[in-house]
Amino acid sequence: MRASSPPKTYRVKSFGCQMNVYDGDRMAELLASRGIAPAAEGEEADLVVLNTCHIREKAAEKVYSDIGRLQKADGSKPLIAVAGCVAQAEGEEIMARAPAVSMVVGPQAYHRLPEMLDKAVAGERATDTDMPPIAKFAALPARRRAPPSAFLTVQEGCDKFCTYCVVPYTRGAEISRPFNDLVAEAEKLVEAGAREITLLGQNVNAWSGEDAKGRAIGLDGLIRELAKLPNLARIRYTTSHPMDVTDGLIAAHGEVDKLMPFLHLPVQSGSDPILKAMNRSHDAEGYLRLLERFREARPDIALSGDFIVGFPGETEADFEATMQLVDAVGYAQAFSFKYSARPGTPAASMDGAIAPEVMDERLQRLQAALNRDQLAFNQASVGKRCAVLVERKGKKPGQMLGKSPWLQSVWFESDAALGEIAEVELVEAGPNSLAGRVLAPVSA
Ligand code: SAH
Ligand code: SF4
Ligand code: F3S
Repeated sequence: MRASSPPKTYRVKSFGCQMNVYDGDRMAELLASRGIAPAAEGEEADLVVLNTCHIREKAAEKVYSDIGRLQKADGSKPLIAVAGCVAQAEGEEIMARAPAVSMVVGPQAYHRLPEMLDKAVAGERATDTDMPPIAKFAALPARRRAPPSAFLTVQEGCDKFCTYCVVPYTRGAEISRPFNDLVAEAEKLVEAGAREITLLGQNVNAWSGEDAKGRAIGLDGLIRELAKLPNLARIRYTTSHPMDVTDGLIAAHGEVDKLMPFLHLPVQSGSDPILKAMNRSHDAEGYLRLLERFREARPDIALSGDFIVGFPGETEADFEATMQLVDAVGYAQAFSFKYSARPGTPAASMDGAIAPEVMDERLQRLQAALNRDQLAFNQASVGKRCAVLVERKGKKPGQMLGKSPWLQSVWFESDAALGEIAEVELVEAGPNSLAGRVLAPVSA
């Protein structure tokens, strides 16, 4: 690889989950702290970071085609770093297959990106897929600006080993960031403009730590502590695992005003044999009972989930059980995916592969039911009054967009500034958003 001049501009492209987006933002800040500027809209940067996701098929193929396409205005290649979960899983292959890539950096090592960049500028290629999880956070610069709704990674990794999933391999074992670090980072985020913080983790409710007095606490304890920050208006968390739900977390939904009435609790399937084959450690009944308890603690809680259709061996009856579970819950929103065999996972070598057309058909039926329920939930919200956090400008002049407490997108006419909280009446519902009318002057 030839030496090149140090990059003046960067672009980070994130393709994955919210934690992948958080990582992308942190890499951007790291590069900015080294005096590199974000590239202007429509202009290729001197340095491009592809922050990849490995969760479903074709992710790796997409990386190679992106690498092929990257080109600056003068026809030369930018410096290219591949980061994220594909980098972790397939770092060596990327280096071998894509000579244009000069840096491969895993999700636990990206704090070392600046040193790798120095090497790349000198013409050396570098790979770093070490997993020293806590070191990363300590080495990252504090954030200077935060959006009204900001992410805060509190827990990383996964010990659950669902048989279809790559995350335990790409993100490593479950670790919790220390309480003091999290309180300090949350304070910084609020100072930098955040009004809402979403606590992130692959299994966020597996977070555990010690509070300032040395008492053992779980996620609910952390939420209660963060709720004391005066300028923080809202707290959310995602993604939870049914196995790690505690009485304290359920109770917090009834007791902590700043904790928003929303729960994303993936179930994947409504069929017990499939849940067992997935190694989910819960059955359909147990999952429904948990939701009931959340609803008792917070009757207006909006529910969300994740589903996989076409897991190996899924019969029509198994799929029907999923449809019944959906009907029983009435989700406010949900994500659904076709099963994708991932190299190295136990499910990839299971018998009973489902034909693609069967998967397509099941996914369509499932999504029709989920869309129906989402629209019904939005329609049932019409007439409600609620607080909306103003997150961005809408397409039309004077239009603002924000989120309801139930994570619905709400747009309304207002001269409110970003980060303000508007008291809004929800007046019209669509499948993906609602129209609102501002009632009271906004509170900063
Ligand atoms: N830790 C979270 C989410 C992990 S990934 C949890 O356990 O809920 C997000 C979602 O991607 C999963 O909930 C699952 O629905 C989906 N997913 C994961 N692996 C998949 C695979 N191999 N094929 C299809 N969907 C998958
Ligand atoms: Fe993957 Fe299961 Fe862990 Fe979620 S809990 S990250 S689906 S292994
Ligand atoms: Fe994708 Fe990695 Fe997140 S595989 S879903 S970016 S943890």
